[in-house]
Amino acid sequence: MTLDADLTWIDNNAPYSRRFEDRYFSREDGRAETQAVFLDGNELADRWQEQGRWQTGSTFHIAELGFGTGLNFFETLHHWQKLAPEHARLIFTSFEQYPLEPEQIGRALAVWPDLADLATPLLNQNSAKQYQFGNVTLNLLLGDARATLPTWCEQADAWYLDGFSPAKNPQLWELDLMHQVFDHTKVGGTFSTYTAAGFVRRNLQQAGFDVRRVQGFGGKRERLQGCRVR
Ligand SMILES: C[S@@+](CC[C@H](N)C(=O)[O-])C[C@H]1O[C@@H](n2cnc3c(N)ncnc32)[C@H](O)[C@@H]1O
Repeated sequence: MTLDADLTWIDNNAPYSRRFEDRYFSREDGRAETQAVFLDGNELADRWQEQGRWQTGSTFHIAELGFGTGLNFFETLHHWQKLAPEHARLIFTSFEQYPLEPEQIGRALAVWPDLADLATPLLNQNSAKQYQFGNVTLNLLLGDARATLPTWCEQADAWYLDGFSPAKNPQLWELDLMHQVFDHTKVGGTFSTYTAAGFVRRNLQQAGFDVRRVQGFGGKRERLQGCRVR
């Protein structure tokens, strides 16, 4: 079941959730945060350009908790188009319970015109659950991730854990869900997130991940990234 996002706009046109009393992305620079936390945090540029990577399998799979405005997806698509070889395929699966309207996504991305351009297929066709952008497939799995992820039959190479602040949106960071994320990660796969909240770190460790605290983005002291070793 999907629910109303209860979105409003604050400061300079930044999307804000009244339901969770939190921003969709960093106050300083959402796009730079996406690059640092999610792309660099999962070492995607290196992995996509690794020697031999595309001989053993030609698909890379990213999964995300919280599609929101799609900023993470479109920034990923932007980098993929620059870095990945032509025959490689990317699947990006995002779990979202409170989907935004296309005009809200368009408005949120308007500060980055190149990303807003990339988003055109999604803005023009709002009822689809799957979108194709060249060799990139976007799957939107709508509903509470705690109900939808256990029914998902795939495993990701990399996870973006991007719920609202753990204090405001604990449902998206709870232990059972972190177990599901672990089970839906390939051996050798990774996760990254902007937060270093203690209970999130403990849940990820208990689920089975090797977890590291690294320098946070912007004003944040630390964030987490990690790997499924076995
Ligand atoms: C910080 S925002 C995500 C920002 C997004 N990645 C972006 O690039 O704009 C958190 C997202 O998690 C979603 N969310 C919160 N609780 C959820 C749940 N139980 N299941 C699925 N999605 C949920 C919210 O609706 C919101 O879109």
